[in-house]
Amino acid sequence: MPELIDPTVRLRPSFLAAVAEFHADREQGVPWFVTNVDPPALTDADAFAAYVARVLGERTEDGAVRNGFVPMTTLWWVEGEEMLGRLAIRHRLTPALERVGGHIGYDVRPGARRRGHATAMLAAALPVARGLGITRALLTCDEANTASRRVIEANGGEFLDTDGDKRRYWVPTA
Ligand SMILES: CC(C)(COP(=O)(O)OP(=O)(O)OC[C@H]1O[C@@H](n2cnc3c(N)ncnc32)[C@H](O)[C@@H]1OP(=O)(O)O)[C@@H](O)C(=O)NCCC(=O)NCCS
Repeated sequence: MPELIDPTVRLRPSFLAAVAEFHADREQGVPWFVTNVDPPALTDADAFAAYVARVLGERTEDGAVRNGFVPMTTLWWVEGEEMLGRLAIRHRLTPALERVGGHIGYDVRPGARRRGHATAMLAAALPVARGLGITRALLTCDEANTASRRVIEANGGEFLDTDGDKRRYWVPTA
């Protein structure tokens, strides 16, 4: 059974393979988290360790150094030694996140899609969000993103509204 785990250097080979898959994917754009990987981390083991440490550090106010960012818990969806996806829980909303992004964002690597991973990954993340004090999570997706919409609705998402080309949902975390 896959599980959500903290980012770890142990999964470097699989993480790098996943990044390559995301870059090669012609169906959906390259996700933000992939473009956010420090380029040296793609070729150098020490730089990869520093990248993992940075991502783990984003969980605290001190670590969330980038302008406009709030603390964020990144988790990897993993089976054995294979990284299947990733998910990030923003600890609180900003006006920008209220419109786009919400509390939780997720990506499944192209080669692992359509096997229920995103649905299961979000389900596994809801208790984590609850533990962070989020009693209902705001989730947003593009109007055209049928897969993400199904993931949210399968996890109890209550439709809130449409804002431009975004659909917004509240998902109870308990
Ligand atoms: C959206 C995404 C996370 C879905 O991941 P996934 O693991 O394939 O999703 P699941 O297998 O749990 O599928 C969920 C539902 O969507 C459906 N689905 C999956 N891919 C689909 C597609 N390309 N078109 C239509 N429906 C699709 C599945 O059949 C399933 O439907 P069901 O619940 O009725 O059976 C994945 O496509 C992805 O990473 N996309 C790029 C990043 C992204 O869009 N992230 C979400 C931002 S809001």
